[in-house]
Amino acid sequence: MYKEKTSLELIQTALKNWRGFFIQYEMALYEMESDFKIIDLEWKARFGYSPIEHLKTRMKTLQSLIQKIDKKNIPLTQESVKKHIKDIAGIRIVTSFIDDIYMLKKHIEEREDYRIIEIKDYIKDPKQSGYKSLHLIIETQIIVSNKVLWIPAEIQIRTSAMDFWASTEHKLNYKYQGKDIPKEAKDQLVELSKASYLLDLEMSTLRNQLLSSE
Ligand code: GTP
Ligand code: MG
Repeated sequence: MYKEKTSLELIQTALKNWRGFFIQYEMALYEMESDFKIIDLEWKARFGYSPIEHLKTRMKTLQSLIQKIDKKNIPLTQESVKKHIKDIAGIRIVTSFIDDIYMLKKHIEEREDYRIIEIKDYIKDPKQSGYKSLHLIIETQIIVSNKVLWIPAEIQIRTSAMDFWASTEHKLNYKYQGKDIPKEAKDQLVELSKASYLLDLEMSTLRNQLLSSE
């Protein structure tokens, strides 16, 4: 005889489904982390140089995910979350030089296990805050029970100087959470972003000079 599920059973089933949903993103993150660590090893072995200085992965926190669902006003279903929120899995790759960023972008574009969905080039077109970085919204492959799944993720690629600016600016803004940070401080941050970009440009020039004199 058909037995109606109790509320507790329904909640348990829903939680299990959502856990399964998030695990796919964690799997994708592991895949990406190993892909880029392999690139690092391979390029060091082949060319004696890797564009990757270091990398970091993160899963979006539940709190930040809920805030985004609320802000975007999307239905709380796995299909809509997968379709509208592409940064549940995120990897940040830090390079020494600006050229390294575009070298990595080209490599990702050429890989068959990555599909690029969107490119946001905040280096060519910085955010109003002064933020610079290259963001790629991609889909990456994972294989679960012999099935290929494409999972969305955000790849942020930036130089050490851009990373230093972004993490420091984030900390300063965090201190001010809820309030607007003073206009003078905002202007100063934009100026500091320009100054750190000059550092990037000069490092690139120096590198090119050294390479051409080899
Ligand atoms: P989110 O809702 O924040 O994900 O915005 P979005 O979907 O429009 O994506 P966006 O391209 O703005 O990039 C989002 C991510 O880039 C953030 O989660 C930060 O990691 C980083 N980011 C974007 N703007 C800034 C900024 O002004 N300062 C810092 N420090 N980081 C930023
Ligand atoms: Mg985000």
